[in-house]
Order: sequence, then C-alpha cells, then structure tokens
Amino acid sequence: MTSSLLCFGQYKLPNLPFKYNALEPYIDSTTMYIHYNFHHAAYASNLNKALEKYPEFYKKDILELIQDMDVLPADIQTAVRNYGGGYYNHSFFWTILAPAGSANMSPKLEKILIDNFGSIDAFKADFEKAAANRFGSGWAWLIKDDSGKLRIITTPNQDNPLMPMLKIKGTPVLTLDVWEHAYYLKYQNKRMAYIKAFWNVVNWTEVERLIGK
Ligand SMILES: [Fe+2]
Repeated sequence: MTSSLLCFGQYKLPNLPFKYNALEPYIDSTTMYIHYNFHHAAYASNLNKALEKYPEFYKKDILELIQDMDVLPADIQTAVRNYGGGYYNHSFFWTILAPAGSANMSPKLEKILIDNFGSIDAFKADFEKAAANRFGSGWAWLIKDDSGKLRIITTPNQDNPLMPMLKIKGTPVLTLDVWEHAYYLKYQNKRMAYIKAFWNVVNWTEVERLIGK
C-alpha cells in the first residue's frame, strides 16, 4: 500500500498487504504506521549498513542469509542476527495479518489444530501463555517442525525459528510480535489484551497455506 520512507541497498521494505487502519480497532493505525515506517524500516536500513563491507551478501535471499548465519564473517553475525532477524520477522508478521473477518479458520485448519493441540481453545491458550510469558522483547511462533508437528515456541529479541543457534527450529506458520513497540500506544502494559485482540486479525488462509507447504 505504501513504499518505504527509509531504505537503500539490497534489502527493501516490502509493501504492506493492507492499509494502516485495516486492523482497527485491534491494532491501531498509528501503531501500524510507526511500526512499519520506523521500526521495520530501521531494521532494513541497519541490515543494509551492516553488509556494506560485504556487498556480495545483498544478493542473498533473506531466508538464506539468516539460515546460514553461522558461516557469515564473524564481524557481521550479530548485526545479521539482530537486524536481519528484525527485517525478516516483521516482513513475515505482516503476511499473517488481515482485517477482522476477512480470513476465517477453515474446517480443515481447525482439524489440524485440534489434532496437534487437542482443541482450538487449547491451541489459543497455549499460544497466549507463551506470548505473555516471553520475558522482555521477543516473538511468539507457531512452527512446523521437521516431523510435520506444529509447535508453539517463543524467541527473544529478533531471533526466529530459522536461525542456526536455536535449539527448537522449524518453519514459521504464525507469529506475534510482543515487543512493546507493537502494542504500547493502545494497550500500554496490558500485553495479554493485545495478544487476545490478535486473534481477530490473523490471516488464517495464509497460515493454512504455510502449514500445507
Ligand atoms: Fe516489531
């Protein structure tokens, strides 16, 4: 919907797949604007700056850059972990959000979640608990592991389940940003209210597609 205000180099801010106010009242327009144009854009900008000494890495897909982080030059590994992680995590987050009511859970997806977690309520309760208990800043994830099982994990800072140093890895199929910048304007210290509101704006069609990949 809008283009980047702050980007240069190879890694560009992806277009938001919805308008800033599309997730109201659950995620407010001002938060969405700041989150995308300043926080996400800063991760892209800082990642590009970190790679200036090694411009050959601008050619890599961001997933490849993150997954192969341990073979990068030592002096940029931390920057790629933090800024590359932030760049990827936010790019992914936007794709699993949608205006309320526009992408409901299908019976097929409900069955998948029930098979993995016992019930939809149990799945949501487990995810909410994980997201609420992530100390400090980080992310909650639903991932598909190598055996095809769905698991709920959290990561600190801008880490994600694709990074080589993580003990539990898998393909992300859903995520929630629980950094305070994602909710503080509207929800202040009430992280759980933000987490529960999130269920209204999940793009379940995309989650189901990712699980099926
Ligand atoms: Fe964020």
